Amino acid sequence: NKVWAVVPAAGIGSRMQADRPKQYLILNNQPVIVHSLQRLISHPLIEGVVVALSANDPYWPSLNLPSHWPIHTTLGGEHRADSVSNALEFLKNLTQRDPWVLVHDAARPCIRHSDIDSMLQQLSDDPVGGILGVPLSETIKRVNADNTIEATVDRTGLWRASTPQMFRLRGLAEALTQAKQCNINVTDEASAMEFMGLVPKMVAGHADNIKITLPQDLALAALFLQQQNN
Ligand code: CTP
Ligand code: MG
Repeated sequence: NKVWAVVPAAGIGSRMQADRPKQYLILNNQPVIVHSLQRLISHPLIEGVVVALSANDPYWPSLNLPSHWPIHTTLGGEHRADSVSNALEFLKNLTQRDPWVLVHDAARPCIRHSDIDSMLQQLSDDPVGGILGVPLSETIKRVNADNTIEATVDRTGLWRASTPQMFRLRGLAEALTQAKQCNINVTDEASAMEFMGLVPKMVAGHADNIKITLPQDLALAALFLQQQNN
């Protein structure tokens, strides 16, 4: 049974401080978002992708994506969760089924098929779903407002949450709606499911699935893509 992907791509990339949203910056000869989409679309179990875009995004039309790519676009929202919500509503109108949906940041161009495979293998029979992540590797400090160290946090069981985040279409749409109604700020899909009292799983992914966020991340991603191809 095939799954769908949702790609939030309506952010402005303020931390990147570039002349355009980071998903449209060039990485190894093509825009970041094209890498991300290509890796999703070329996966044999992904049926199609719904991309959430900013209103009047001038960059999207000039990508000239291959017309046979199974891509639909919809309008994003103020926050990432709003963009994802809109894409899920679009998808609800497209299918009567309740497929698994992989929500994947446009700004994560280094996602590997093997990580998607791990997710599908480990979560397809799960009652809730889950996310891709990586255990923390550094010592973690809790710091006060005056930059004094309050504590060293026990790293056991602490992971970085990344994407894809894999949940059922209808349950995820409902969870995001509920979280918004209750004014809960969710920065990922799993938080919304947790808010509903559900228990998502963590799937170990590769550390090279970085989110392009800061200026130096582009060079890092270029190196990772090159390594993956060798
Ligand atoms: N995103 C979105 N809609 C928003 C905000 C973010 O679709 N209102 C998307 C971004 O385009 C990105 C992903 O969510 O692909 C992850 O968000 P983030 O890394 O925070 O991107 P930006 O919000 O664009 O960057 P910044 O926070 O630095 O402004
Ligand atoms: Mg942001």
